[in-house]
Amino acid sequence: MPTPQSAILDRNMGTHQWYLHLSRVDGSDLAHIKSVLRSYRQACSQRGIKTVIGFGPSLLRDLTGDIPDDFQPFETVAATDGSGREAKGTQEEVLLWLHSADKGEVWKTQWDARLGLKGHMKVARETMTFIYGNSLDLSGFIDGTGNPEPARDVEVAIVPDGQPGAGGSHILAQRWVHDLEAFQRLPLAAQEAVFGRTKPDSTRLEVQVPTSHLSHVELRNGKTADATKEKRDEISRRSTPYAFHDGTVGLYFLAFCKKQAAFRERLQGMYGLDGQARDQLVDLSNPASGSFYFAPSEETLEAMLR
Ligand code: HEM
Repeated sequence: MPTPQSAILDRNMGTHQWYLHLSRVDGSDLAHIKSVLRSYRQACSQRGIKTVIGFGPSLLRDLTGDIPDDFQPFETVAATDGSGREAKGTQEEVLLWLHSADKGEVWKTQWDARLGLKGHMKVARETMTFIYGNSLDLSGFIDGTGNPEPARDVEVAIVPDGQPGAGGSHILAQRWVHDLEAFQRLPLAAQEAVFGRTKPDSTRLEVQVPTSHLSHVELRNGKTADATKEKRDEISRRSTPYAFHDGTVGLYFLAFCKKQAAFRERLQGMYGLDGQARDQLVDLSNPASGSFYFAPSEETLEAMLR
C-alpha cells in the first residue's frame, strides 16, 4: 500500500496552524511550482512542521495520471427552501495545511513558499487557526467526539490499495463564520439540541430532533442518527477554531475521507437537499469558503513533483 502523507493520520496537532489556498496565474510555470513545493516539503521536514499538501482537480490532472475516482470541484450547496442559506464553493488548486507548536516557524515556512510561488500561483485565501481547550469549537462544544478511533483512520480516510489514488485522501476544507452571539443567547438545552450532544462532556442525546447536527451528519445503515444501526461512510475531522482581528470568529472545518461523496452527502443533508429539515447549525454559522482537495500518497507526491 502506498504511504499516506503522515500528517493525515497524526492526531497530535500543533497549536499553531496555517491554511494557505493558492491557484495558478497566467504564464505560470509548472516546473517552477514543482520545485517550490519540493523545497517547501524539505523545509517542513527540517523544521519539524507537520503538513498536508492537497491539490484541486485541475492541477492534480496536470501533474499525475493517478487520479482518484469521483474527484469533483466544490460546487456551492444552496438550500432550496427559501432560507437563502448556502455553503459557498471557492475551489482553488493547492492547499498547504501546516502546523507546529512554534508559530514563528509556521509563519516562515509558509512565507518562503508563497514568495517562491509569486508570479506563478496567487494566494487566494489564508487562515490561521489554533487549538482551544479540550478540542473545543468556539461555541464551547467539544469537536471530534464522534471521530473514528485513530487506529481506524486508514480504513476511513485513505483510498485503499488497488484503486486509483491509493494511499491518498480526499479533503474538505471550509471556513465557517459563526454568529457566536446568537448562539450564546440560546439557553443551554437549545444549544445542546443544535448539535445533539451535551455541552460539558459531549454525551450524545438519546432523542435527536430533526434539526440537530447529528441528524444530518451521523450517517448510519438505515436512517441517519439511528444509533441502533452501524455507522457508514465515516470521515475523520481535524477542525480548529480561528478568530480574526475584526471580530470574525468560527471554525475551520477540515476532514479526510477515502470518498468525496461522503462529504457531499452530509453537506446536502445539512442544507435540506435530501428533503429533510435543514441542520439548525447552518442558521448559526455560514461558510465563507469551501473547497475539495486530494492529498496524494507520499510516492505519488514525490513522482508528481519530480
Ligand atoms: C460550523 C461548522 C461545524 C461545527 C461547529 C460542527 C460541530 C460539531 C460538533 C460539536 C459535533 C459533535 C461532537 C463530535 O462528534 O465532534 C459534530 C459532529 C460531527 N460533524 Fe460537525 N460541525 C460543523 C460542520 C460539519 C460539516 C460541514 C460536516 C461534514 C460535511 C460535519 C460532520 C460531522 C460529523 C461526521 C460528526 C460526527 C457524527 C458522528 O458521531 O458520527 N460537521 N460537529
